[in-house]
Amino acid sequence: MFRSNIPSSEIAPKEQYLSRRDFIKAAGFLGAGALLAACAPKSLTEAAPVSVLADVPNSLEDITNYNNYYEFSYDKAAVAKLAKDFPTRPWSVEVTGMINKPKTYDIEDLLKQFPSEERIYRLRCVEAWSMVIPWMGFPLAQLLAAAEPTSAAKYVRFVAVHDPENMPLQSSASFDWPYQEGLRLDEAMNDLTLLATGLYGEPLPNQSGAPLRLVVPWKYGFKSIKGIVKIELTDTKPSTLWNTASPREYGFYSNVNPNVSHPRWSQASERRIGELARRPTLLFNGYEKEVAHLYDGMDLATNY
Ligand code: MTE
Repeated sequence: MFRSNIPSSEIAPKEQYLSRRDFIKAAGFLGAGALLAACAPKSLTEAAPVSVLADVPNSLEDITNYNNYYEFSYDKAAVAKLAKDFPTRPWSVEVTGMINKPKTYDIEDLLKQFPSEERIYRLRCVEAWSMVIPWMGFPLAQLLAAAEPTSAAKYVRFVAVHDPENMPLQSSASFDWPYQEGLRLDEAMNDLTLLATGLYGEPLPNQSGAPLRLVVPWKYGFKSIKGIVKIELTDTKPSTLWNTASPREYGFYSNVNPNVSHPRWSQASERRIGELARRPTLLFNGYEKEVAHLYDGMDLATNY
């Protein structure tokens, strides 16, 4: 049940990753990048020939200065500065609910018990932009296996930190705080589902969800909850912040699907941050081989 099912093609080996980074560095010396920089987000990937644009990671600069973290700001460019001094130590993560081994981890113990590895994933936001991010993290399945879910457990509920003193919009913005998310247990157990602890080989910056966030690469980015303090196994479908705020627009599944439009815009294409041309959006964000079986027999238009 806990076997790894990611083909090696989905996890870039270290050498390949390093050579990509070297490539990005080298590409920065080309003149085209400098010319394009004036009218597009600053990313060196612009200088790359089209044939190698496929999945080059976005720059750390892009990844950490274009963020959604509504506890801090609605302005993607403002989150980094507002989150800079957010206290992420001490920090504990409670694992509870329908499990045999409930446990509250101090974050340092959790990081030691579950060593992080590097995984390069595409992240597709519901707002129709995307990035490629070299995460550090470990499969959520490892933590769930240690917790021993009972046979009654069907879902996993994630709860983010509630700290209005240090998160300005938790006092003013009209959301049902804290941020919450949920997965079906089999989605949570899929080897692609990551608890992210870092990026580009370093601990997670605050704006990216330090010290622990979820990454579910075949789902829209809002499923990837930041600042996790609680993971609970349940037998009922957890309510989520976005589904509660606007059920017509944000379903429980939120699988990336170019064939199902958001009520207010198409999901057929996306803008990769750092590129000029739009690219077609792929079903399950391109992870169809790994996850399509989870939805066999389900109508993805009604289960959006
Ligand atoms: N987690 C929390 N706690 N609060 C948020 O506002 N925003 C979500 C998700 N996780 C959000 C969150 C949304 S809408 C997206 S697209 C991703 O985080 C963005 O992740 P990034 O800023 O690392 O790209």
